[in-house]
Amino acid sequence: FHSGYGETWAKAILVGEHSAVYGYPAVALPLHSMKMKAWATPNLVGRHQLRALGFTGPLDDSGDRFAGIRRAVSVAEEFVSPQRWSAFTLVTEADFPAERGLGSSAAAAGAVIRAVLDAYGVGATSQELFELTNRAEMVTHGHPSGLDSATTCSQNAVVLSGGRISHVSMKASGVLVIADSGICGSTREAVGNVHHQYETDRPRIEAILGELGTLGSQSVDDLQGGKMDDLGVHMNAAHILLAQLKVSEPTLDRLVNVARDAGALGAKLTGGGLGGCIVALAADQRHADVIMDELRQAGACGVWSHGLGAMV
Ligand code: MEV
Repeated sequence: FHSGYGETWAKAILVGEHSAVYGYPAVALPLHSMKMKAWATPNLVGRHQLRALGFTGPLDDSGDRFAGIRRAVSVAEEFVSPQRWSAFTLVTEADFPAERGLGSSAAAAGAVIRAVLDAYGVGATSQELFELTNRAEMVTHGHPSGLDSATTCSQNAVVLSGGRISHVSMKASGVLVIADSGICGSTREAVGNVHHQYETDRPRIEAILGELGTLGSQSVDDLQGGKMDDLGVHMNAAHILLAQLKVSEPTLDRLVNVARDAGALGAKLTGGGLGGCIVALAADQRHADVIMDELRQAGACGVWSHGLGAMV
């Protein structure tokens, strides 16, 4: 047995978070420069150990926060069984924050699963890896759409529609700016809140989800046709609908406005909401630099940029 390694990355949902859970079209981008790495090294302690996000200790004692990682290890072990060995020391390391809508739970699960399989020398198809990751995500999110599991290991933009994942080739240009509000957002809580509204006020919530779905498919067209101005308009419209679903909050609204005032073609919250990050679309790097400066001055505690032209 050797030490296993796995790598995934962050993701940004362009349009369609929350409505994706109800089967409507959504589109997300992998952010390849923001990596999640995991190592699985066989140990002689006899129990899995974890070192992640400031926690060091037995995996079994790692609490709710790491439930997805525990599930990731167990689904990976089930996959390799009956070759099961004794225990691993698992280490994860990310260059992006957790609980900020950037897909860290799916990215960590995906990286850990890859690391454990690698330690056993067992291969898996990308479909199998996706399914294993999404099983771990069920512990974290409750009802994951699959968008995060698919995007955090994808080479290119991911479209989810009617439960099916596909990849789009883009003619997109411009730069995506990502800014962190510094507020932790629980996706499980946000998805639960939307579901509660869906149960109690179905016609209104269904209408909002349907509109988000329409914006999701329009955004796919925009990316394929290189219509960045239109994409910005659709992102702005999506933010209004997400606010109506009550998954935005004042800091996110403020950062979205700062980005727009600084010249963004469009801006919105990204991911589960209730905190976390916003995404803003800039026409080019020069505009992106101005938007990033303004967002930093407005108190964003992490700001990143991601060129869209490089993604095919
Ligand atoms: C979370 O990044 C995106 C949500 O749509 C949940 C999901 O798709 O599973 C809120």
